Amino acid sequence: MVVEKSLLHGDRESFASHNVINLKSAAQPVNGPAILEEVVAEHRNTLVELPLPELATPADEQDGSRTQNSQKDSFDLIAQDEANLLALEAEVCSYGDTVHYAKKPKIFAHCSGSYLYDTYDTPYLDLQMWYSAVNLGYANDRVNEALKRQIDTLPQLACQYLHKEKIELSAKIVNSAKRAFGEAGRVHFNVGGSQAVEDALKLVRKTTGKSRQFAFEGGYHGRTLAVSSITSSYRYREDYGEFGDRAEFVPFPYCFRCPYGKKMESCELYCVQQVERKFEHEYTGAWNPKTNKSEFGAFVIEPVQATGGYIIPPQGYFERLAKICKERGILLIDDEIQMGLFRTGKLWAIENFNTTPDIMVFAKALTNGMNPLSGLWAKEELISPDKFGPGSTHSTFSSNSLGTAAALEVMKIYEEGDYETTVNEKGAYFLAQLKDIQKRHPEIGHVDGLGLALRVEMCEIDGFTPSRQLADKMFQRGLAGDLRVNGRKMGLILDIGGYYKNTLTLAPSLEITYPEIDLACDTLDLLISECKTH
Ligand SMILES: Cc1ncc(COP(=O)(O)O)c(C=O)c1O
Repeated sequence: MVVEKSLLHGDRESFASHNVINLKSAAQPVNGPAILEEVVAEHRNTLVELPLPELATPADEQDGSRTQNSQKDSFDLIAQDEANLLALEAEVCSYGDTVHYAKKPKIFAHCSGSYLYDTYDTPYLDLQMWYSAVNLGYANDRVNEALKRQIDTLPQLACQYLHKEKIELSAKIVNSAKRAFGEAGRVHFNVGGSQAVEDALKLVRKTTGKSRQFAFEGGYHGRTLAVSSITSSYRYREDYGEFGDRAEFVPFPYCFRCPYGKKMESCELYCVQQVERKFEHEYTGAWNPKTNKSEFGAFVIEPVQATGGYIIPPQGYFERLAKICKERGILLIDDEIQMGLFRTGKLWAIENFNTTPDIMVFAKALTNGMNPLSGLWAKEELISPDKFGPGSTHSTFSSNSLGTAAALEVMKIYEEGDYETTVNEKGAYFLAQLKDIQKRHPEIGHVDGLGLALRVEMCEIDGFTPSRQLADKMFQRGLAGDLRVNGRKMGLILDIGGYYKNTLTLAPSLEITYPEIDLACDTLDLLISECKTH
């Protein structure tokens, strides 16, 4: 592959697309590991320039001592400004959100594409995109334009009235579910992910009369009072009294660390057999064989466990689970809040597993991280107007017109693009490189991916004992923003998840370019080398 000199500086867009086009024509990465390895090797050998944004960072400017002095002055001013802001924050902001997970909270100033920029204009390649809320890249032009148009026409409207975008957006989601599952249904909006899950729980209570649910160990569905009951971590309930409707948590099919100590090759989905066992007799506490009724109204799932560490279940698991639930009148709630909207290469992650949910919940990337909007889709038989009448749930800002305008544009972008192909190709390319890095670092116990939801489990040298310390070091080091990769100063945004807080959960922009994937892999390789030895 030839990289033209003119593409090496300035024209980043064409440089990126040039590489992508050549890569695609060289071979389809999804065609098999052998071809993929060749493509990776060829592609990497020809990369002569990093595709970092052309924004000159203060550190990169070397225009003689005068410039250096004025640069130092402006650095000092920025540093002073930041220190003042952080001091003020420490005084006036609650520490109850997640900002103070970090020892020194980070301030960012602007964003574009796959990059966040700190106040010194240092670029940070983002491999988690706001927990997968910004699938189409930061400051996406089309979504921004849609919002600007909406600001100029109908920027706000009480949600008791209708507006065009809400109706058209609902139709797009309803049609997507019809295509995916062959089911008619309706959409109901709210503002945040947790609130939409709460609405799903109300729908279950109304339909089944039950307030108890099954959910998964490692599952995360939010932190409001109601959904804390079905989020697995006791940590989020511990200080908040009784949770009478706390879910029964079932082990998730986490095959790298099978909760039953089985091997995938021979287990015959022992884990789903254990769910089935709950309905064998009355003494499991879940089922009354005399009335044929369960104490549980729904099973809440994430098709790929997100906060739990981007764990991908084996094929066949959800099909069997859905059958067990259906036969016992237990509704299947599919939480697509983090994995939906093409993160896994399908519009809805559950489509990868040939399973039809009764209720599906979405949020985050619906608006590409712009005005908050969340919602649920439910089968018509559950949510028809006679079953879920006016006022069943309500929030002042649900179906806000800026949110629906952004979301409508997002759905149009997905309809017009071929994201199923591009996300799977980029995902396969990224995963192949991660597997290559794993060969050099035995501390990587496990890598896996579905579309552009990728996991890298950091371990001790034995490749199995979880190393939270190593993962955390990498996270902190990336966030410091002073990595030197091929002579450029940059940072790396990572997110750590998993049961042992040792898993890098990678959710890059679905628009990430191939050179950016290479850069991500070079940087990860460097980070591991640095962090495991210091
Ligand atoms: C799978 C899943 N469900 C629910 C939620 C809660 O959404 P929100 O934070 O918008 O309340 C999250 C948030 O991370 C999530 O990842």
